[in-house]
Amino acid sequence: MNYEKLFTLFYIGKMKVKNRIVMSPMGLNAAHADGTIDNDEIDYFEERARGGTGMIIVGCQFLTQELAQGSLEGYLDRTYVIPQLTNLCSSGIKAK
Ligand SMILES: Cc1cc2nc3c(=O)[nH]c(=O)nc-3n(C[C@H](O)[C@H](O)[C@H](O)COP(=O)(O)O)c2cc1C
Repeated sequence: MNYEKLFTLFYIGKMKVKNRIVMSPMGLNAAHADGTIDNDEIDYFEERARGGTGMIIVGCQFLTQELAQGSLEGYLDRTYVIPQLTNLCSSGIKAK
């Protein structure tokens, strides 16, 4: 089989994606009970970015703790979760 096309870039709007290898969203169930994530989760995604994945879609994030029903994926109704999520996205970009 010829996989050359996999290693060609494409655009999503103005965003250039360097190849067509995309990691599906997979929740890690690794957030803390207060909805924050720690550096282990950032390291996990950074490692995948270093491996050359063109685009990584992070796993689910729940809007509220109630909707999460005990799942440790983080909640988006708390502003204090934003800095670590921003670090997560930035580290993936730096790793490339
Ligand atoms: C362990 C695991 C966790 C997953 N977590 C999420 C998730 O958080 N959000 C989501 O949209 N899909 C999630 N999925 C679904 C995958 O992103 C993907 O859509 C699914 O595995 C089907 O992929 P396929 O169509 O390539 O077979 C998860 C799948 C697995 C196996």
